[in-house]
Amino acid sequence: MSKNLVVLISGRGSNLKAILEAIKSGKINAKVSLVLSNKKDAKGLEIAKEYGIKTKFIDPSFFETRRGYDIYIAELIKKENPDFVVLAGYMRILSDEFIDAFEGKIVNIHPSLVPAFQGKSAQRQALDYGSLITGCSVHFVTKELDNGPVIVQAVVPVLPEDTEESLSNRILEFEHKIYPQAIKWLVEDRVVVSGRKVIVKDAKYGTLPVNPSLEDF
Ligand code: GRF
Repeated sequence: MSKNLVVLISGRGSNLKAILEAIKSGKINAKVSLVLSNKKDAKGLEIAKEYGIKTKFIDPSFFETRRGYDIYIAELIKKENPDFVVLAGYMRILSDEFIDAFEGKIVNIHPSLVPAFQGKSAQRQALDYGSLITGCSVHFVTKELDNGPVIVQAVVPVLPEDTEESLSNRILEFEHKIYPQAIKWLVEDRVVVSGRKVIVKDAKYGTLPVNPSLEDF
C-alpha cells in the first residue's frame, strides 16, 4: 500500500522538489499529504503548490515557546497519519515532544558526512577545517542534533578553489539523489534499524560519488 509523507521545510525546497519528482515519475510509491513551513515566504511552499500538494504555514511568533509550537504542529501532522515525517531544510531544532510523537519515523538530510560538521553551516565548517572530502547524510532524527542512525551517505570532494557556494552546490546534487533513494527504501519497508546501525535490505553497499547502492537515482 502507498505510504504517506509529511514534509517540513523552511526555505528553498530543492530537496522537496527532488522527492516530489521521484514520486511523480513513479520511482517512489508514496504521496505527500502536507508540506508544512515555519516561514511564510519559503519558496518550497510554491513548489508544493505546483505539484498540487496541500501546504500550511504555521507562524512560530504566535507561540510563546518552541515546545508549544512543536506540540501544535505535531497535532496537525498526526491528523495526516504519516508513515514518515521528512525534514527537508527545516531550520528549527525539534523539541523532545515532537520527536516522541513520531519516534523512528522522522528523517533528515544534513550537508556533511555525519558525525562530522553537525549543526549550522556544515559546508562552511568543512572548508574552514580544510577537509578534503565531505558529503551529505540522510539519517533518522533522534533527540541528539544531527546524530541519529545514518541511512545513506554520499561522499563529495572539497576542491582547492571551492567557495561555500560552489561546495554547497556540489553537495546539493548528491542530496537530490540520496534523499529520494532513502525515502524509496523507507516506503518499501527495507530499512532495518538496530541500535545505531541501519541495514537496507537487498541494497548494494559501496562508496559515492559512484555509489552502487544508489539503484535508481
Ligand atoms: C540542504 O542543504 C539540506 O541539507 C539542509 O538544508 C538545505 C535545504 O535545501 N538541511 P532545500 O531547501 O532542500 O533546497
